[in-house]
Amino acid sequence: MAAKPRVLVTRRWPKAAELALAERFDVTFNENDTPMSAEAITAAMREYDAVAPTVSDRITAEMLAAPSARILANYGVGFSHIATDAAKTAGVVVTNTPGVLTDCTADLAFSLMLAAARRLGEGERELRSGGWSGWRPTHMIGTKVSGATLGIVGFGRIGQAMARRAHHGFGMRVIFQDPYPVDPALAASLGAERRETVDDVVAEADFISLHCPGGDENKHLIDARRIGLMKPGAILVNTARGEVVDEAALAAALSDGRVAAAGLDVYEREPVVHPDLLKLENVVLAPHLGSATSETRVAMGMCAVENLTAFFAGREPPNRVA
Ligand code: DGY
Repeated sequence: MAAKPRVLVTRRWPKAAELALAERFDVTFNENDTPMSAEAITAAMREYDAVAPTVSDRITAEMLAAPSARILANYGVGFSHIATDAAKTAGVVVTNTPGVLTDCTADLAFSLMLAAARRLGEGERELRSGGWSGWRPTHMIGTKVSGATLGIVGFGRIGQAMARRAHHGFGMRVIFQDPYPVDPALAASLGAERRETVDDVVAEADFISLHCPGGDENKHLIDARRIGLMKPGAILVNTARGEVVDEAALAAALSDGRVAAAGLDVYEREPVVHPDLLKLENVVLAPHLGSATSETRVAMGMCAVENLTAFFAGREPPNRVA
Protein backbone atom coordinates (compact mmCIF):
# COMPACT_ATOMS: atom_id res chain seq x y z
CA MET A 1 0.00 0.00 0.00
CA ALA A 2 1.34 3.44 -0.95
CA ALA A 3 2.44 5.65 1.93
CA LYS A 4 -0.06 8.29 2.92
CA PRO A 5 0.91 11.85 1.91
CA ARG A 6 2.55 13.74 4.76
CA VAL A 7 0.68 16.86 5.88
CA LEU A 8 1.89 19.53 8.29
CA VAL A 9 -0.89 21.51 9.99
CA THR A 10 0.35 24.84 11.38
CA ARG A 11 -2.34 25.32 14.08
CA ARG A 12 -4.66 22.96 15.98
CA TRP A 13 -8.05 22.28 14.38
CA PRO A 14 -11.30 21.20 16.08
CA LYS A 15 -11.05 17.55 17.11
CA ALA A 16 -13.49 16.16 14.53
CA ALA A 17 -11.62 17.81 11.69
CA GLU A 18 -8.22 16.66 12.99
CA LEU A 19 -9.54 13.07 13.20
CA ALA A 20 -10.90 13.21 9.65
CA LEU A 21 -7.57 14.51 8.39
CA ALA A 22 -5.57 11.93 10.34
CA GLU A 23 -7.67 9.09 8.87
CA ARG A 24 -6.56 9.95 5.36
CA PHE A 25 -3.08 11.40 5.78
CA ASP A 26 0.13 11.06 7.73
CA VAL A 27 -0.39 14.23 9.75
CA THR A 28 1.85 16.32 11.97
CA PHE A 29 0.05 18.87 14.10
CA ASN A 30 1.74 21.87 15.66
CA GLU A 31 1.10 20.48 19.13
CA ASN A 32 1.71 23.65 21.15
CA ASP A 33 -0.54 25.70 18.81
CA THR A 34 1.61 28.82 18.76
CA PRO A 35 2.46 30.53 15.45
CA MET A 36 5.28 28.70 13.69
CA SER A 37 8.42 30.69 12.84
CA ALA A 38 9.27 31.54 9.25
CA GLU A 39 12.15 29.07 9.46
CA ALA A 40 9.88 26.26 10.67
CA ILE A 41 7.35 26.89 7.90
CA THR A 42 10.13 27.04 5.30
CA ALA A 43 11.48 23.72 6.60
CA ALA A 44 7.98 22.19 6.50
CA MET A 45 7.53 23.35 2.89
CA ARG A 46 10.70 21.38 2.07
CA GLU A 47 9.88 18.28 4.09
CA TYR A 48 6.15 17.56 3.75
CA ASP A 49 3.89 16.77 0.79
CA ALA A 50 1.34 19.35 1.93
CA VAL A 51 1.13 22.21 4.39
CA ALA A 52 -2.17 23.39 5.87
CA PRO A 53 -1.64 26.98 7.02
CA THR A 54 -4.10 29.55 8.27
CA VAL A 55 -4.44 33.31 8.54
CA SER A 56 -1.89 33.56 11.37
CA ASP A 57 0.85 32.28 9.03
CA ARG A 58 2.48 34.50 6.42
CA ILE A 59 3.52 32.29 3.51
CA THR A 60 6.12 34.28 1.60
CA ALA A 61 7.79 33.79 -1.78
CA GLU A 62 11.02 32.81 0.00
CA MET A 63 9.22 29.95 1.77
CA LEU A 64 8.01 28.72 -1.59
CA ALA A 65 11.49 28.33 -3.09
CA ALA A 66 12.31 24.68 -3.89
CA PRO A 67 9.33 23.16 -2.05
CA SER A 68 8.59 19.47 -1.62
CA ALA A 69 5.02 20.40 -0.67
CA ARG A 70 2.75 20.50 -3.70
CA ILE A 71 -0.31 21.98 -2.04
CA LEU A 72 -1.09 24.64 0.56
CA ALA A 73 -4.52 23.72 1.91
CA ASN A 74 -5.43 26.93 3.70
CA TYR A 75 -7.80 26.67 6.66
CA GLY A 76 -9.91 29.77 5.98
CA VAL A 77 -11.49 31.58 3.08
CA GLY A 78 -9.14 34.59 2.96
CA PHE A 79 -5.72 33.90 1.47
CA SER A 80 -4.04 37.30 1.30
CA HIS A 81 -1.42 35.92 3.73
CA ILE A 82 -0.17 33.56 1.00
CA ALA A 83 2.08 34.71 -1.85
CA THR A 84 -0.13 33.09 -4.49
CA ASP A 85 1.92 34.33 -7.48
CA ALA A 86 5.02 32.71 -6.02
CA ALA A 87 2.99 29.55 -5.33
CA LYS A 88 1.94 29.43 -8.99
CA THR A 89 5.54 29.91 -10.11
CA ALA A 90 6.66 27.14 -7.77
CA GLY A 91 3.87 24.84 -8.98
CA VAL A 92 2.23 24.76 -5.54
CA VAL A 93 -1.58 24.53 -5.59
CA VAL A 94 -3.42 26.76 -3.08
CA THR A 95 -6.93 25.99 -1.79
CA ASN A 96 -9.25 27.74 0.66
CA THR A 97 -12.49 26.98 2.55
CA PRO A 98 -15.28 29.18 1.16
CA GLY A 99 -19.01 28.82 1.70
CA VAL A 100 -18.96 27.13 5.08
CA LEU A 101 -18.25 30.33 7.01
CA THR A 102 -20.57 32.69 5.15
CA ASP A 103 -23.44 32.80 7.65
CA CYS A 104 -21.33 32.91 10.79
CA THR A 105 -19.13 35.70 9.46
CA ALA A 106 -22.19 37.71 8.43
CA ASP A 107 -23.71 37.06 11.87
CA LEU A 108 -20.56 38.43 13.52
CA ALA A 109 -20.48 41.46 11.21
CA PHE A 110 -24.09 42.15 12.12
CA SER A 111 -23.30 41.73 15.83
CA LEU A 112 -20.50 44.27 15.53
CA MET A 113 -22.75 46.68 13.67
CA LEU A 114 -25.41 46.45 16.39
CA ALA A 115 -22.86 46.58 19.20
CA ALA A 116 -21.14 49.66 17.76
CA ALA A 117 -24.44 51.43 17.03
CA ARG A 118 -25.96 50.68 20.43
CA ARG A 119 -22.72 51.19 22.41
CA LEU A 120 -22.78 47.70 23.92
CA GLY A 121 -19.06 47.45 24.68
CA GLU A 122 -19.06 50.83 26.35
CA GLY A 123 -22.22 50.01 28.30
CA GLU A 124 -20.88 46.70 29.52
CA ARG A 125 -17.62 48.31 30.62
CA GLU A 126 -19.53 50.99 32.52
CA LEU A 127 -21.74 48.45 34.25
CA ARG A 128 -18.93 46.05 35.19
CA SER A 129 -16.83 48.86 36.58
CA GLY A 130 -19.66 49.89 38.89
CA GLY A 131 -20.17 53.18 37.07
CA TRP A 132 -23.85 52.72 36.11
CA SER A 133 -26.03 55.11 38.09
CA GLY A 134 -29.34 53.80 36.72
CA TRP A 135 -31.77 54.44 33.87
CA ARG A 136 -32.17 57.98 32.58
CA PRO A 137 -33.53 59.39 29.32
CA THR A 138 -30.17 60.71 28.17
CA HIS A 139 -28.01 57.74 29.08
CA MET A 140 -25.69 56.24 26.45
CA ILE A 141 -27.72 57.22 23.42
CA GLY A 142 -26.82 55.25 20.29
CA THR A 143 -27.78 55.10 16.63
CA LYS A 144 -30.86 53.35 15.21
CA VAL A 145 -29.99 50.45 12.91
CA SER A 146 -33.45 49.38 11.68
CA GLY A 147 -34.42 51.23 8.52
CA ALA A 148 -31.01 52.87 8.02
CA THR A 149 -28.89 52.57 4.85
CA LEU A 150 -26.22 49.88 4.86
CA GLY A 151 -23.36 50.19 2.38
CA ILE A 152 -21.62 46.93 1.56
CA VAL A 153 -18.16 46.96 -0.01
CA GLY A 154 -17.61 43.56 -1.65
CA PHE A 155 -20.75 41.73 -2.64
CA GLY A 156 -19.58 38.13 -2.58
CA ARG A 157 -21.12 35.41 -0.44
CA ILE A 158 -20.59 37.16 2.89
CA GLY A 159 -21.59 40.59 1.61
CA GLN A 160 -24.80 39.08 0.24
CA ALA A 161 -25.48 37.29 3.54
CA MET A 162 -25.06 40.63 5.31
CA ALA A 163 -27.50 42.25 2.88
CA ARG A 164 -30.05 39.46 3.51
CA ARG A 165 -29.94 40.04 7.25
CA ALA A 166 -30.07 43.81 6.86
CA HIS A 167 -32.91 43.96 4.36
CA HIS A 168 -35.12 41.09 5.43
CA GLY A 169 -34.42 41.27 9.16
CA PHE A 170 -33.95 44.95 9.86
CA GLY A 171 -35.74 46.68 6.97
CA MET A 172 -32.52 48.41 5.93
CA ARG A 173 -31.90 49.97 2.57
CA VAL A 174 -28.85 48.27 1.08
CA ILE A 175 -26.37 49.67 -1.42
CA PHE A 176 -23.23 47.88 -2.56
CA GLN A 177 -20.11 48.05 -4.70
CA ASP A 178 -18.28 45.12 -6.22
CA PRO A 179 -15.81 45.07 -9.10
CA TYR A 180 -17.46 41.93 -10.52
CA PRO A 181 -20.90 41.62 -12.14
CA VAL A 182 -23.74 40.73 -9.78
CA ASP A 183 -26.96 39.15 -11.02
CA PRO A 184 -29.51 42.01 -10.86
CA ALA A 185 -32.26 39.57 -9.83
CA LEU A 186 -30.15 38.35 -6.91
CA ALA A 187 -29.40 41.92 -5.85
CA ALA A 188 -33.09 42.80 -6.08
CA SER A 189 -34.03 39.78 -3.95
CA LEU A 190 -31.77 41.21 -1.22
CA GLY A 191 -33.16 44.70 -1.64
CA ALA A 192 -29.69 45.82 -2.73
CA GLU A 193 -28.86 48.55 -5.24
CA ARG A 194 -25.53 48.70 -6.99
CA ARG A 195 -23.29 51.75 -6.86
CA GLU A 196 -20.42 52.27 -9.29
CA THR A 197 -17.66 53.13 -6.84
CA VAL A 198 -16.56 52.61 -3.25
CA ASP A 199 -16.71 56.40 -2.89
CA ASP A 200 -20.41 56.36 -3.83
CA VAL A 201 -21.17 53.71 -1.18
CA VAL A 202 -19.11 55.37 1.52
CA ALA A 203 -20.70 58.77 0.93
CA GLU A 204 -24.30 57.53 0.94
CA ALA A 205 -24.42 54.92 3.70
CA ASP A 206 -25.21 55.28 7.39
CA PHE A 207 -23.39 52.00 8.08
CA ILE A 208 -20.53 50.63 5.98
CA SER A 209 -19.60 46.96 6.19
CA LEU A 210 -16.48 45.64 4.45
CA HIS A 211 -16.60 42.24 2.76
CA CYS A 212 -13.92 42.55 0.08
CA PRO A 213 -10.70 40.51 -0.08
CA GLY A 214 -7.53 41.80 1.58
CA GLY A 215 -4.10 41.90 0.01
CA ASP A 216 -2.23 44.63 -1.83
CA GLU A 217 -5.09 45.46 -4.19
CA ASN A 218 -7.32 46.55 -1.30
CA LYS A 219 -4.69 47.84 1.14
CA HIS A 220 -6.07 50.97 2.83
CA LEU A 221 -9.14 50.97 0.59
CA ILE A 222 -10.68 52.83 3.52
CA ASP A 223 -8.11 55.57 3.99
CA ALA A 224 -8.28 59.11 5.37
CA ARG A 225 -9.77 60.43 2.11
CA ARG A 226 -12.63 57.90 2.06
CA ILE A 227 -13.18 58.29 5.79
CA GLY A 228 -13.59 61.98 5.00
CA LEU A 229 -16.38 61.12 2.56
CA MET A 230 -18.40 59.30 5.23
CA LYS A 231 -21.58 60.94 6.48
CA PRO A 232 -21.36 62.54 9.92
CA GLY A 233 -22.43 59.88 12.38
CA ALA A 234 -21.60 56.97 10.06
CA ILE A 235 -20.43 53.66 11.51
CA LEU A 236 -17.82 51.33 9.97
CA VAL A 237 -17.66 47.55 10.36
CA ASN A 238 -14.69 45.46 9.22
CA THR A 239 -14.81 41.67 9.26
CA ALA A 240 -12.84 41.39 5.99
CA ARG A 241 -9.11 41.91 6.46
CA GLY A 242 -7.24 44.38 8.64
CA GLU A 243 -5.18 45.86 5.83
CA VAL A 244 -8.34 47.12 4.10
CA VAL A 245 -8.61 49.93 6.69
CA ASP A 246 -5.95 52.50 7.55
CA GLU A 247 -6.20 51.97 11.32
CA ALA A 248 -4.36 55.17 12.25
CA ALA A 249 -6.71 57.25 10.07
CA LEU A 250 -9.75 55.46 11.50
CA ALA A 251 -8.58 55.96 15.08
CA ALA A 252 -8.09 59.69 14.41
CA ALA A 253 -11.59 60.00 12.91
CA LEU A 254 -13.17 58.04 15.79
CA SER A 255 -11.31 60.14 18.29
CA ASP A 256 -12.56 63.46 16.94
CA GLY A 257 -16.06 62.08 16.31
CA ARG A 258 -16.02 62.38 12.49
CA VAL A 259 -16.82 58.66 12.50
CA ALA A 260 -19.37 57.89 15.20
CA ALA A 261 -18.29 54.34 15.93
CA ALA A 262 -16.70 51.23 14.48
CA GLY A 263 -16.86 47.48 14.95
CA LEU A 264 -13.67 45.63 14.06
CA ASP A 265 -12.85 41.93 13.94
CA VAL A 266 -9.61 42.14 11.94
CA TYR A 267 -6.47 44.28 12.27
CA GLU A 268 -3.52 45.41 10.22
CA ARG A 269 -0.92 43.64 12.38
CA GLU A 270 -2.80 40.85 14.16
CA PRO A 271 -2.69 40.09 17.01
CA VAL A 272 -1.39 43.63 17.64
CA VAL A 273 -4.14 46.26 17.70
CA HIS A 274 -3.34 49.92 17.02
CA PRO A 275 -2.81 51.51 20.48
CA ASP A 276 -5.02 54.48 19.60
CA LEU A 277 -7.96 52.14 18.92
CA LEU A 278 -7.51 50.47 22.30
CA LYS A 279 -7.99 53.81 24.05
CA LEU A 280 -11.32 54.62 22.39
CA GLU A 281 -14.77 53.93 23.82
CA ASN A 282 -16.55 54.16 20.44
CA VAL A 283 -14.99 51.12 18.83
CA VAL A 284 -16.00 47.52 19.49
CA LEU A 285 -12.98 45.25 19.12
CA ALA A 286 -13.36 41.50 18.56
CA PRO A 287 -10.39 39.12 18.28
CA HIS A 288 -10.95 37.80 14.71
CA LEU A 289 -14.03 35.74 15.60
CA GLY A 290 -15.91 35.87 12.27
CA SER A 291 -15.94 32.12 11.67
CA ALA A 292 -15.60 31.09 15.33
CA THR A 293 -18.52 28.72 15.87
CA SER A 294 -18.08 25.01 16.43
CA GLU A 295 -20.18 24.17 13.35
CA THR A 296 -18.18 26.43 11.08
CA ARG A 297 -14.71 25.64 12.39
CA VAL A 298 -15.33 21.89 11.95
CA ALA A 299 -16.75 22.51 8.47
CA MET A 300 -13.68 24.56 7.52
CA GLY A 301 -11.45 21.66 8.52
CA MET A 302 -13.59 19.18 6.56
CA CYS A 303 -13.37 21.47 3.55
CA ALA A 304 -9.56 21.52 3.78
CA VAL A 305 -9.59 17.70 4.10
CA GLU A 306 -11.69 17.45 0.91
CA ASN A 307 -9.29 19.74 -0.93
CA LEU A 308 -6.31 17.62 0.13
CA THR A 309 -8.12 14.37 -0.65
CA ALA A 310 -9.05 15.48 -4.15
CA PHE A 311 -5.55 16.79 -4.84
CA PHE A 312 -3.77 13.61 -3.79
CA ALA A 313 -6.33 11.49 -5.69
CA GLY A 314 -5.31 13.36 -8.84
CA ARG A 315 -8.54 15.37 -9.02
CA GLU A 316 -9.00 19.12 -9.16
CA PRO A 317 -9.48 20.32 -5.55
CA PRO A 318 -12.97 21.82 -5.17
CA ASN A 319 -11.68 25.12 -3.76
CA ARG A 320 -8.55 25.88 -5.72
CA VAL A 321 -7.56 29.55 -5.70
CA ALA A 322 -4.08 29.24 -7.25
C1 DGY B 1 -11.11 33.35 7.02
O1 DGY B 1 -11.61 32.26 6.81
O2 DGY B 1 -10.58 34.02 6.12
C2 DGY B 1 -11.09 33.83 8.41
O3 DGY B 1 -10.87 35.20 8.48
C3 DGY B 1 -10.03 33.11 9.19
O4 DGY B 1 -8.90 33.09 8.42
